[in-house]
Amino acid sequence: MIATRLVVDRDFDLSSLDRRIFGTFVEHMGRCVYSGIYEPDHPSADEHGFRSDVMALARELGSTIVRYPGGNFLSGYNWEDGVGPKEDRPVRLDLAWLSTETNQFGTNEFMQWCRTLDVEPMFAVNLGTRGPDEARHFLEYCNHPRGTALSDLRRQHGVDEPHAIKFWCLGNEMDGPWQICQKTADEYGRIAKETAKLMRTVDPSVELAACGSSKHDMPTYGAWEDRVLEHCFDEVDFISLHHYFGNPHDSTAEYLANVELTDLFIKEIVAVADSVAARRHSAKRIMLSFDEWNVWYKARSAEHRSQPGWPQAPRLIEEVYNHEDALLVGGALITLMNNADRVKAACLAQLVNVIGPIMTEPGGPAWRQTIFFPFSQASKYAHGRVLRCLIDSPSYRADTFPEVPYLCAAVVHDDESGQTAIFALNRHLSESQDINIELRGLGSQQRLVEALELYHPDMKATNTQASPDTVWPESNAEVEVDGDRIKAHFKPGSWNVIVINNTTRD
Ligand code: AHR
Repeated sequence: MIATRLVVDRDFDLSSLDRRIFGTFVEHMGRCVYSGIYEPDHPSADEHGFRSDVMALARELGSTIVRYPGGNFLSGYNWEDGVGPKEDRPVRLDLAWLSTETNQFGTNEFMQWCRTLDVEPMFAVNLGTRGPDEARHFLEYCNHPRGTALSDLRRQHGVDEPHAIKFWCLGNEMDGPWQICQKTADEYGRIAKETAKLMRTVDPSVELAACGSSKHDMPTYGAWEDRVLEHCFDEVDFISLHHYFGNPHDSTAEYLANVELTDLFIKEIVAVADSVAARRHSAKRIMLSFDEWNVWYKARSAEHRSQPGWPQAPRLIEEVYNHEDALLVGGALITLMNNADRVKAACLAQLVNVIGPIMTEPGGPAWRQTIFFPFSQASKYAHGRVLRCLIDSPSYRADTFPEVPYLCAAVVHDDESGQTAIFALNRHLSESQDINIELRGLGSQQRLVEALELYHPDMKATNTQASPDTVWPESNAEVEVDGDRIKAHFKPGSWNVIVINNTTRD
């Protein structure tokens, strides 16, 4: 047994939490769209062809914003192919995933799906094969009310009211050699700037994200962000980060140290963005959009990324998640929350089947992968302001990080409702943890609303079609609330959520 301590004080808050950090991602890739969210022949399909079993799980997951339509797919996509009468839409080769794209699902279907679920869309414009001209036209089609060729085309397509899409990504992973029409930082920075200028003229209310490096270990990492922002600092609001976690040494302890590395990654990008601001003597702060992140390493061989014969909706990168992956996803969410002052949007990539928290079978059931639970619980309970955590915990040494505290936590407090949510990982893999939590300035008569744990003795346990509830959250009976103190017992290798509410204001 190890003993830890967590102290938070209402006066020491970091920032309000932007709920858009609980975003996900729908790409035209593999079975994310077709037989994922859209399957007209499925027994649960609604009048639009959307799987209602998947919509129910997406609702439960609590995704607040959904990025679309890619991903690498974006850099070869013509938005015009995916609008208008379905029978007239062209079938195309998708050069990103070597698949056949039928275009039976496109912008208006995605927007209908978002409206049904009441989630915000995060769209992206193709800066690979296309550029500023296409971007301004696409935005006019989506957001201009009426009276121009493209806004009236949207209305002819049955969408009278403008979509009012606010968040736009300027391309995808433009530094990657795998990207269709990869660019240098100068080429991309210039195009991002000019595209942003046109888009803001069409609709001044848009929020724009420039592409950062496609991963931390790109050779141009850091220099890319610096150069790109040198060009488009004044025109954009966000720089993007992407990261997929792996477990190359099959060591849970090393794997969970990634949580600390993610924190460093975020702080490095903040430092680069702020150094561009400093050179310009600017008080503007570029925010971070961590718009692709997840665990992705088991389904990563070449065959998993494409299949021969240009198939339609093939099974690509259908990673099956285990208990330790859920712990890492929980840890990553804690890090995103603890950087809420600069990370204002983030997307778990992707939503369904393709490295997804939700899995489906065509014509068959849908189920929750292990990583579903930390995400849904964080999204459900994290509202308000993130408080700074003082953590007193023994730690371990990882190869990649010198001091990894066994306790990893984030605390979010909502003044309006009086609710406080504590999210915590016990990274000790053999010892349970007795934690003492001191809450200062949050009220002295706290009552327990919910105490949940995600634990499994086997780190490799998974949820599958045959056994969809092997890893499942349970109530934690070993949580005691006494005034403004909490004592709790966390199992080894567990994700934990404690939600309390103050009954009186004092
Ligand atoms: O999410 C899968 C792929 O990973 C995306 O298409 C791409 O942006 C990233 O490399």
